[in-house]
Amino acid sequence: MRAIVVHETGGPEVLSLEDMPRPEAGPGQVLVRAQAIGVSIVEAHMRAGIMPVPLPAVLGVEAAGEVVAAGEGVDQGLVGRTVAGVTGGTGSYAEYAAMPAAMVRPVPEGVPAAEAVAAGAALAVALGLVHRAALREGETVLVEAGASNVGGYLIQLAREFGAGRVVATAGAGEKRDRAREFGADTVIDHREEGWTAQLDGIDVAFESIGGDSARGVVEALTPGTGRMLYYGRLSGLAPAVTPDDLLGRGVSLVGCSGPAWFREVFDVHYPEGFARLADGRTKAVVGPTFPLDQAAQAHRLVEERGAQGKIVLIP
Ligand SMILES: NC(=O)c1ccc[n+]([C@@H]2O[C@H](COP(=O)([O-])OP(=O)(O)OC[C@H]3O[C@@H](n4cnc5c(N)ncnc54)[C@H](OP(=O)(O)O)[C@@H]3O)[C@@H](O)[C@H]2O)c1
Repeated sequence: MRAIVVHETGGPEVLSLEDMPRPEAGPGQVLVRAQAIGVSIVEAHMRAGIMPVPLPAVLGVEAAGEVVAAGEGVDQGLVGRTVAGVTGGTGSYAEYAAMPAAMVRPVPEGVPAAEAVAAGAALAVALGLVHRAALREGETVLVEAGASNVGGYLIQLAREFGAGRVVATAGAGEKRDRAREFGADTVIDHREEGWTAQLDGIDVAFESIGGDSARGVVEALTPGTGRMLYYGRLSGLAPAVTPDDLLGRGVSLVGCSGPAWFREVFDVHYPEGFARLADGRTKAVVGPTFPLDQAAQAHRLVEERGAQGKIVLIP
């Protein structure tokens, strides 16, 4: 099969198209013939060594496609079904990917593979975040990187779940327009130095940028009840927040990753997200698509922050 392999960390040029043996479905795994493969900044961070992974590796986290084999301990009824999900590590930039059965979910009839992979993880994570935030009617919500894949769904869901005001951040002008189209009342340019000074009275902050700006976000949380849900580090840096930043304000910081988080995401929120796609309550936002052998171009676009919607590779 054809696959995109990384032997050493570096720029997009280290992505190499190679022929290699098809993987097998091991215990607890399904073998998926990929029809659509998701591309995100996470893989760019893996490729660049910001998020280390054992090398050499077939890069790639997300895929949707047909199950062609099911390993030991897996429901054989999955064979022949279209599923979408994640590898739990690397391995999806390929014609076939072995994926944990616990991390894929059946795609409803009528939902194309590209939409399933575009919305799958991001919509499920956004649903998990709004549930975990226990949003109360009328609260003010901050969505960082509101034109990102997860951020776009978060803005829409925050509105639907009763937020009184949604403040989003975005970079380039068209990204800010996009965040407004998703439903943000106010959009701040997060490329501006000191942008957090514009924040006030934030009840719930969905933190995905990390680095120093996170401290400014904590300072804008409503004393006593404000909560920050930390789920990503787009800057490559952990949020620069100390326990003492939280202590005096009586606000909380909730970590939203790791095995327990993902179990809930896969068991509860993936099916919830797919049901929304099937009945049209939520629309998948598919961005540019590239053939598998143009994975390096897809990575350049991610790193230039040039894409609107989810970038998808078609094998
Ligand atoms: N915990 C979880 O369960 C979970 C699951 C999935 C993803 N995540 C995390 O969620 C975050 C968003 O993922 P995604 O797939 O939605 O991202 P994405 O669609 O690839 O969006 C990335 C966008 O973020 C913005 N951004 C802001 N600061 C940035 C920076 N310093 N460097 C690069 N981009 C920056 C850029 O938009 P502008 O042009 O507007 O700046 C960029 O286009 C990531 O950190 C990811 O790791 C977490």
